[in-house]
Amino acid sequence: ARVDKAGYKHFMAKEIAEQPQVLSDALNAYLTEEGIALPDPGIDFAKIDRLTMVACGTAYYACLTAKYWFEQLAGLPVEVDIASEFRYREPPVLPGTAALFVSQSGETADTLAALRYCADKADKIFSVVNVPNSSIARESDLALPIHAGVEIGVASTKAFTCQLNVLLLLALKAAEARGRLTPEARDEILKGLRALPGTFNAALDRDEVIAGVARKLAEARDILFLGRGLMYPLALEGALKLKEISYIHAEAYASGELKHGPIALIDKHVPVVVMAPKDALFEKTVSNMQEVMARGGKVCLVTDAEGAAAAGQDVWRVVQMPTVPDVLAPILYALPAQLLAYHTAIAKGTDVDQPRNLAKSVTVE
Ligand code: G6P
Repeated sequence: ARVDKAGYKHFMAKEIAEQPQVLSDALNAYLTEEGIALPDPGIDFAKIDRLTMVACGTAYYACLTAKYWFEQLAGLPVEVDIASEFRYREPPVLPGTAALFVSQSGETADTLAALRYCADKADKIFSVVNVPNSSIARESDLALPIHAGVEIGVASTKAFTCQLNVLLLLALKAAEARGRLTPEARDEILKGLRALPGTFNAALDRDEVIAGVARKLAEARDILFLGRGLMYPLALEGALKLKEISYIHAEAYASGELKHGPIALIDKHVPVVVMAPKDALFEKTVSNMQEVMARGGKVCLVTDAEGAAAAGQDVWRVVQMPTVPDVLAPILYALPAQLLAYHTAIAKGTDVDQPRNLAKSVTVE
């Protein structure tokens, strides 16, 4: 089908704005009144010992996020690797391993090679893809489509949130099988998931505020992203998005690593974007923000209402997101990360949909 910009200036803007709809489609595909309706994985999650996840780029950050979910919700140990490292390191894949490959296109050469390496070693080969008849999907025992629809913008947006959505459902399924999640905890997460399209719609209202922050970020040469726990992979994704399309050097660190290096970079010229809903780790992140501010660094805090109230006066900018269960925060906070990158690129006048030197799908090494 022909895809046009539907009145948006860029495919990226359209694909960001489409997220309430595609998330709703994906949830309709995988969530019924009774609960999670994923196809039978053909494997007992209670009987596997570990999950190995492999991907490139944004899909790799989706895997890193999912590691927290599989480990915390399902008690399943997870190894995550970049496909180009994994395939040449030729790591041992022991019996009891399920291998999971995440790829928007389903055609990324390194990810496909990693899958083929695992084919005769892993108990089961899963994939999470956007293109159901792609090579990666065809060579998997089970391919779960993310239902994001065609993604044209080179910088992945809606595919990322839809990957997270399916990975979370899979982690919940594993948690169920492993008897790790109380029905109450599960229902709370499912309730939050069902509400997520509406929450995304509400969060899209922050567009103006984020554009205002972005006009300032556009003046920076370097930008630091910080996050803890589930927000750490998201900080990585936020930095990747920003450098891909605005060409500003951006780096992400786990907040706790700040004092082990990146704090040396902080001065008034280096804005620091902190992704931190008011979860169990928030207070620790507040200390990290204070360390940044004490050195003249400008903090943009992306948080919820409680976090905004607790953040203190010295924070340079606050982007306030709707409140969601902690587990869902990485899906929702992908939106401000995308909008920050988008508006910064617009302020810089770069080609948002076709950034220099990048390809949508890397099918050769
Ligand atoms: C390219 C794209 C990225 C994408 C990565 C992995 O680098 O520019 O946006 O995340 O490939 O692609 P895949 O199709 O495997 O998700």
